[in-house]
Amino acid sequence: MIKKPQGMLDFFPEETAKIQYIEAKARNVAARFGFGEIRTPVLENTELFARGVGNTTDVVQKEMYTFIDRDGPSLSLRPEGTASVARAIIENGKYGDAMPLKYYYLINCYRHERQQKGRYREFSQFGVEMYGSGTPAADASIIALADTLIKELKIQKVELHVNTIGCKNCRPAYYQKLREYFSARKDELCDTCKSRLETNPMRILDCKSEICKRIAKDAPKAIDHLCPECADHQKKVESYLKGMNIPFTLDTSIVRGLDYYSRTVFEFICRDERMGAQSTICGGGRYDGLLEEIGGTSLPACGFAIGITRLLPTVELPAECVKGIDLYIAPMGDAALEKAIVLVQTLRDAGYSADTDLVGRSLKAQMKYANKIGAAYTLVLGDDEILAGKAVLKNMRGEGSDEVNLDDLLGFAREHF
Ligand code: HAM
Repeated sequence: MIKKPQGMLDFFPEETAKIQYIEAKARNVAARFGFGEIRTPVLENTELFARGVGNTTDVVQKEMYTFIDRDGPSLSLRPEGTASVARAIIENGKYGDAMPLKYYYLINCYRHERQQKGRYREFSQFGVEMYGSGTPAADASIIALADTLIKELKIQKVELHVNTIGCKNCRPAYYQKLREYFSARKDELCDTCKSRLETNPMRILDCKSEICKRIAKDAPKAIDHLCPECADHQKKVESYLKGMNIPFTLDTSIVRGLDYYSRTVFEFICRDERMGAQSTICGGGRYDGLLEEIGGTSLPACGFAIGITRLLPTVELPAECVKGIDLYIAPMGDAALEKAIVLVQTLRDAGYSADTDLVGRSLKAQMKYANKIGAAYTLVLGDDEILAGKAVLKNMRGEGSDEVNLDDLLGFAREHF
């Protein structure tokens, strides 16, 4: 028995119906906010993530699926979408397009994480990236986009947590404070964080190790070390959110696990019991330095990604989306099957959904099957019906039956399906 790789999932139509519903909602909301879809390769040069996401992050240090390609370069499966979009903007010279650039994506991502409910090695994300606006209104509108989608998916018990982590001007002094704080307890830190102390002390605030988490609890907070511009930016983001009636909590513990963020960071947390321990359904923020970091001309940017795979247990598929087929034709005998195949094809050509017996079932078994696949109507086709050119269409949702001319099945379909 060959099994799927650990941490990866199979999805069958009952589940993909829900995924398609979420994706359709996401596309719809993105379009209403003026975002167009971007598609980039699932593989990128490893260096893109090392520089973009950051060499000192867990994602790059521990979780990437990396291999040497047949002709040389080291490639990695994308662990997220932001770095790829940034690369695509630079490589395709999008600087001349109308600003802000607004792109969204629906992608699979790959992270070699320890599997648990809600945390997988292959998972899908809906993400948006906005480039070319440094205003706090841009941050607020990105958050509003995520909030709109979450509300329209009717996900319950969701909280928005917002924080700011400063910019390249205020960060050096803050890093110094963090180094001083953590140096005093260096021996207790995990090995990865010991090395992060010099390279990127803010990463320690996001370490998953219990002891590092405990030490990090009382560490200096970025919000207490902001430059006036960052403080003003944060105040305005908060004020816009209030204006739009989007409730949030200022949560100074949020630093995000990826290196490119500056100023605003946010997460939507879902407290629904069905979620398991992985309760963050959406994460994002501002990343004004990313383009420059990977060799492009700088543009301010903000965005987020929602984990679709993680959302699945909390989303109910509305009844109107659970649609069976319009008509099942149950043939009795070879001549009837020959006719049924033609009728079914005629209906399908006209845009209706129809099916017939492809496995040689008894009439009773066919009716059971028609029920199972949610047929709205059934039609039993025997020699008598073919001779008369007429048959009875039974309404399976309990509203009687109609006799129709087989030649005019399409006419009936137009009126009733
Ligand atoms: P992230 O926080 O790493 O951010 O991931 C965003 C969301 O993807 C998470 O909130 C979670 O719902 C989902 N997710 C992450 N890892 C897993 C996993 N192993 N299994 C299942 N779901 C997962 C980013 O990826 C950024 N690129 C977001 C962003 C876009 N920031 C700016 N633009």
